[in-house]
Amino acid sequence: MEDRVRPMSQADLEQVLVWRNHADVRRYMYTTHEIGLDEHRKWFGSAKSNPDTHLLIFERDGQASGFVNISSTRCLEVADWGFYVAPDAPKGTGRALGKRVLTYAFGELGLHKVCGQALGFNERSIQFHTVLGFTEEGRLRDQHFDGHKYHDVVCFGLLANEWEATVEVIVE
Ligand SMILES: CC(C)(COP(=O)(O)OP(=O)(O)OC[C@H]1O[C@@H](n2cnc3c(N)ncnc32)[C@H](O)[C@@H]1OP(=O)(O)O)[C@@H](O)C(=O)NCCC(=O)NCCS
Repeated sequence: MEDRVRPMSQADLEQVLVWRNHADVRRYMYTTHEIGLDEHRKWFGSAKSNPDTHLLIFERDGQASGFVNISSTRCLEVADWGFYVAPDAPKGTGRALGKRVLTYAFGELGLHKVCGQALGFNERSIQFHTVLGFTEEGRLRDQHFDGHKYHDVVCFGLLANEWEATVEVIVE
């Protein structure tokens, strides 16, 4: 399969909104309401004009298969990432996305560290970060309120030199 990462464009807006609004994606996000096209367009317009934010589409054989947001923190070489794969994507898509996107983040973007945060009940994402070589750096207890109850947030970090060692052993 030919995997690649490219910047998200206006033409991807509706596809990304369908993924983001899917129940299997939005239940793991900090905001879980169904997003309207207007709100989505506003988010895109403002994020796209921020030079420290990279909105990316992951493609497999030319087929858009996932979305990734990489945003620098106060230290530009340290960034947070957020992501989701197309809800109907076959197993293994997440792993391929992780491999390609992190190679882009540490290579093309020259980042020193990528950080991820997963809600405490998001077992898939917690496992996923571990498989990609992230270190669990902390658990923020009861950090997020979803309107009904509080949830822990699990924090992950991956350094550029750790990625160099990990990427060799990631099987797709
Ligand atoms: C998290 C996500 C990107 C993983 O993508 P995926 O295509 O399901 O992952 P893969 O099939 O490539 O599996 C990669 C690893 O993820 C973990 N994983 C995947 N499905 C899992 C499941 N049902 N239960 C536990 N771990 C799972 C495993 O560690 C797996 O490695 P393994 O196959 O060696 O066990 C995807 O499920 C997703 O988009 N989820 C919804 C959005 C989301 O939670 N985003 C992250 C917010 S922090």
